[in-house]
Amino acid sequence: MLLKGKELAGKIVKKLQNENLPPLTLAVFHPVGDQAAESYLKMKERWLKKINAEIRVFPVYQSTPLVKFYEQLDEVNNDPSVHGIMVELPLPIEVNYWNLHTKINPRKDVDGITFHNQGEFFATITEKIVPCTSVASIRLLEHYEIPLVGKHALVIGRSNIVGLPLFKLFLNRNATPAIAHRHTHDMKTLVKNSDVIAIAAGKKGLVDSSDVKDGATVIDIGINMGEDGKLCGDFNITSENEKERINYSPVPGGVGVVTNAVMLENLSKCYKMLNNISQNGF
Ligand SMILES: NC(=O)c1ccc[n+]([C@@H]2O[C@H](COP(=O)([O-])OP(=O)(O)OC[C@H]3O[C@@H](n4cnc5c(N)ncnc54)[C@H](OP(=O)(O)O)[C@@H]3O)[C@@H](O)[C@H]2O)c1
Repeated sequence: MLLKGKELAGKIVKKLQNENLPPLTLAVFHPVGDQAAESYLKMKERWLKKINAEIRVFPVYQSTPLVKFYEQLDEVNNDPSVHGIMVELPLPIEVNYWNLHTKINPRKDVDGITFHNQGEFFATITEKIVPCTSVASIRLLEHYEIPLVGKHALVIGRSNIVGLPLFKLFLNRNATPAIAHRHTHDMKTLVKNSDVIAIAAGKKGLVDSSDVKDGATVIDIGINMGEDGKLCGDFNITSENEKERINYSPVPGGVGVVTNAVMLENLSKCYKMLNNISQNGF
C-alpha cells in the first residue's frame, strides 16, 4: 500500500480552518541564498495562506552581525503580533545552535526545538510542541491504521528534529523502537527484523525494499535530489513486485505534505499557549 500524505494533510488543514483562528503570524529567519531554504520558504507561504496566516521573513545574510540576529529574535519573542518562530538551518552566520535552542520563546517554538519543549517532551508523555516532521511521520502511520503497539520500529537517523523525537513518539505508542545511525553495524539485519522502518538519513537509496520483510511499513523521510533532477527519498524500491508486499510512503507526496500541515497545527498550538486557551491532547 502506498501511504500518501495528501488526504491526511487536507484533514488537518480543514480542522484548523474550522477553528476560526485569528490571522496568525509566523516569523521565519531565512538563510538568504540557500536554494533548499528558498523553496521551503515559498512552501511555507503557500501553506500558511490556507489558514489565513502570514509569514514575516527576517533575511539572514553572511554579513548579518550575530548581535543583530539575536536582537531581531528577541524582538519577535516579545512581539505579541508574532505567534510562531522558525529558524531555517543552516544559517550563513556562525550561530551556536545549542545556544539558539535556549533563545527562542518556547511558546512560539513552532518546530519544538527549544530545550524547554524538548525537555518536557522527553521527560514526560505529553506531546505539546513536537518537531513537525516526526509528528507527521507518526500521524501518517496512524492515518493508515498501521499497528504500533508491541511492534519493532527502526528509526534511521538521530537528529534532534527528526530521528530522536520520532523514537520517543514510537515509545509513547508502546512500540519497541531502535535507532540506527552512521556507526550502526549490520543495519540490513535490523531492517529485516523491523515491522516499521522510518528513514531520516538524507541518503538516497540507503534502504532497499528487498531487505524489508513482508507486510512491513516504511516511512521515507529523506529528501534528496536524484540524478534525473527529481526529488527522491532514502528508500529504494528494487522491483515493481515489492510494491505489493510492503507499505511505504512516497517522496514527494508522503511525509513532506503532512509536515506542512503539522507546521500549521503547531502554529495554532503556539497561539493557544500564548493566550492560555486549553486544547485537546495537552
Ligand atoms: N519531509 C520533510 O518534511 C523533512 C523535514 C526535515 C528533514 N527531512 C529530510 O530528512 C533527512 C534527515 O534530516 P535531518 O535534519 O534529521 O538530517 P541530519 O541532521 O543530517 O541527520 C541525519 C541522520 O542520519 C544518519 N545517517 C546519515 N547517513 C547514514 C547512514 N549511511 N546510515 C545510517 N544513518 C545515517 C546520521 O547519523 P549520525 O548521527 O551518526 O551522523 C544522522 O543521525 C534529510 O534528507 C532531510 O532533508 C525531511
